[in-house]
Amino acid sequence: MTQHLTLDIANCFADRIGAGHGLGCTDFDAAQDRMSALTDRLAAMDRGGETRWRGLCHDPLRSAHLAAVKRVVADTNAHFESASKGRRCKHLIVLGIGGSALGNIALQAALKEHIHNLTPCTHRTGPRLYVLDNVDPHFVGDHMRHLEIKDPGLAHTAVNVISKSGETAETAAQFMIFRDWLKAHLGESYRKHIIAITDPSRGTMRSIVDAEGYATLPVPDGVGGRFSVLSPVGLFSAAMCGIDIDALLAGAAAMDQRCQSRTLKDNPAAMLAWLLMEFTKRGKGNHVMMPYCNALYSLADWYRQLWAESLGKRLDLGGREVFAGATPIKALGTTDQHSQVQLYREGPNDKVIGFVDLAQWERDVPIPSTLEVDAISYLHGHTLGQLIAAEKRATEYALVESERPNFTITLPRLTAEHVGAFIQLWEVVTAYAGLILNINAYDQPAVETGKVATFGLMGRAGFKEWKQKVERTLESS
Ligand code: PA5
Repeated sequence: MTQHLTLDIANCFADRIGAGHGLGCTDFDAAQDRMSALTDRLAAMDRGGETRWRGLCHDPLRSAHLAAVKRVVADTNAHFESASKGRRCKHLIVLGIGGSALGNIALQAALKEHIHNLTPCTHRTGPRLYVLDNVDPHFVGDHMRHLEIKDPGLAHTAVNVISKSGETAETAAQFMIFRDWLKAHLGESYRKHIIAITDPSRGTMRSIVDAEGYATLPVPDGVGGRFSVLSPVGLFSAAMCGIDIDALLAGAAAMDQRCQSRTLKDNPAAMLAWLLMEFTKRGKGNHVMMPYCNALYSLADWYRQLWAESLGKRLDLGGREVFAGATPIKALGTTDQHSQVQLYREGPNDKVIGFVDLAQWERDVPIPSTLEVDAISYLHGHTLGQLIAAEKRATEYALVESERPNFTITLPRLTAEHVGAFIQLWEVVTAYAGLILNINAYDQPAVETGKVATFGLMGRAGFKEWKQKVERTLESS
């Protein structure tokens, strides 16, 4: 990688946005030693195997996963080619939710053309990708109908079910539906159309996989859903669609290297974590991620889960009630300049806006000079790339003018390396933030409550008490 991601935090300091809202240079100096100590702690946690997600972009996990994913991709494609006279897999459906889906969506959105699914297979690398991360019956049913109608339909459809536990109600229900559906159309060969990504040795999905003999890839031990996009969880669908997964992990590894620096100004993860947690402490706990690039918008969705589920905790590590966390918000430039920016500038000054920018567009669109109308002829001869850059700069200025802290992360280009770097950056930022808040960033007890209450409401044996609890609580008011 010749260039790397940059982080510009100048608009967070008092000389730009005033002493009432900005950080001071002395705050930064004071943070240096504290953040170095946290860098050492994270390194020790990594050596102790407590942050296995961090090793996904390093050997031995990196080589092992790349080899395993490429093997399953080759086997899947070979099956489709041999079963249907040289025609390939045309549709890939991912069944999963939360950490088992958001990364897949983000990689696809960032690194494939927006019109990938609309492009005929002769002009497309890899299958169309559909990530069904909900149990909305219209959403799921419409996709099924679409695939049944589509020529050649199910014979060219692969289903990638992703669930670490295999017990998540949404994924389990979808899996039962799609397994039946494939079986009804394809007979016993349906098994060859399912690729399961799950715990390598235990859990409900693992026992189904072992009994039914699907192709399988691991959700690595000790890696939670929202930290798993750089494992086979995200790599398989990406590789099927032609994304360069070697480059993705290489970019993540290069970023991880930068995030090991003990010098605060050289460590972008430590900088972001310090900055965002410092602002949270000062009443600015709403953190907006606002890419000026549609392809990066789904990464803001992925970030929302990472930030919310990792940091939103009632108890600290000492068991004290702290109600920690910060609220992640996603916005899109320029679209949300015409929607959210009014609030960001004139509403409560309780936010930090994080712009995500692209230094160089792969393709640009010129604005023609043929329509001669005074009020809009200033656009003649420019490009959309120039317009979006000017709009971002103008919004940055407008926020500074209103004393609103903001920073910019710039990706040199939209490549797998830089997207991998961006992902690793935010995972390490989250790890630092967890240490600063003194909470467990890797569990999600509040999410579990919703899961088991659903089991109770849907009649799962052993969870009857949850149904009663739900009914008692919701009916008493
Ligand atoms: O980040 C997480 O741990 C969660 O979002 C999980 O990924 C999600 O709940 C799905 O769990 P599972 O993979 O066990 O089906």
